[in-house]
Amino acid sequence: MPDHMPRPTLGGQTDSANHATPPYGQPQGAAGRKRKPVTTWQIADMRANGEKIAVLTAYDATFAAAADFAGVDCIMVGDSLGMVCQGRSSTVGVSLESMLYHTQCVAQGLVRAEGSALLIADLPFGSYQHSRDQAIGSAIQLMQAGAQMVKLEGGGWTTDVVAFLVERGIPVCGHLGLTPQTVSAQGGYRVQGREEAAAERIRTEAAALDAAGAAMMVLEMIPARLAATISGEMKSCATIGIGAGNGTAGQVLVMHDMLGLNLGRMAKFVRNFLRDADDVHAAFAAYVAAVKDGSFPDNRQHAW
Ligand code: KIV
Repeated sequence: MPDHMPRPTLGGQTDSANHATPPYGQPQGAAGRKRKPVTTWQIADMRANGEKIAVLTAYDATFAAAADFAGVDCIMVGDSLGMVCQGRSSTVGVSLESMLYHTQCVAQGLVRAEGSALLIADLPFGSYQHSRDQAIGSAIQLMQAGAQMVKLEGGGWTTDVVAFLVERGIPVCGHLGLTPQTVSAQGGYRVQGREEAAAERIRTEAAALDAAGAAMMVLEMIPARLAATISGEMKSCATIGIGAGNGTAGQVLVMHDMLGLNLGRMAKFVRNFLRDADDVHAAFAAYVAAVKDGSFPDNRQHAW
């Protein structure tokens, strides 16, 4: 852990400063809130009971606290931070050090705001591809920075890595379909699994990750029908869609996208939740409500 970061501690305090009445402490009304911490068990229950899981990315303390207060179930420190925070054109150059820094910021925000969302952090490109030893070393660092689950991209060879991490007590989220870390190999940001053979491969990879113990799995930019089929085939893994229709166990969006802050072309699967909201807090709450009641995504508008 870089030594310039305060270490998260319980009780809204940090090691390095006294924040008894911090000016940027927590959203109004958050103190003493009674939401139960979201655990991997609770995620499994939600999936089993058909309650949709609302996931949102965040990269800093303030937005993480606001998202938590709005009722987001899981906060994901995605390596999309490479694009939205660092101005890169892809996630490929994001370092493990950057992921650790932003994971600490988000974890610290959740502590200060008495937050209870499950914190998922991305293993960046190059931090798990070399070997199982490299993967567990990177995953341990993310967990020590405050993550409660790590996410890695791809299927096939990753199954073995996922099983290795899970056996050692690290909850894992898989990521299939469009996998931005290997977007060059996928021919750009395009829908995956349209052809029968490709769809079959994704189904097989998803089943293997499920069997390996992945607790969650992002399905990105695949046809809604395929995502719904895979979701129905999972034994215990909760599927989280982004551009995969409304048949998954939950949804995720990049925060900047759903606030209309994407500086490029907005992807078809994104809805701007700030447009009809008074402020960011209301936008986050609208997102959670729309995911929970199944009105987002709308397959006619946001899916393939
Ligand atoms: O990096 C990221 O933010 C992600 C989500 C969009 C799933 O992988």
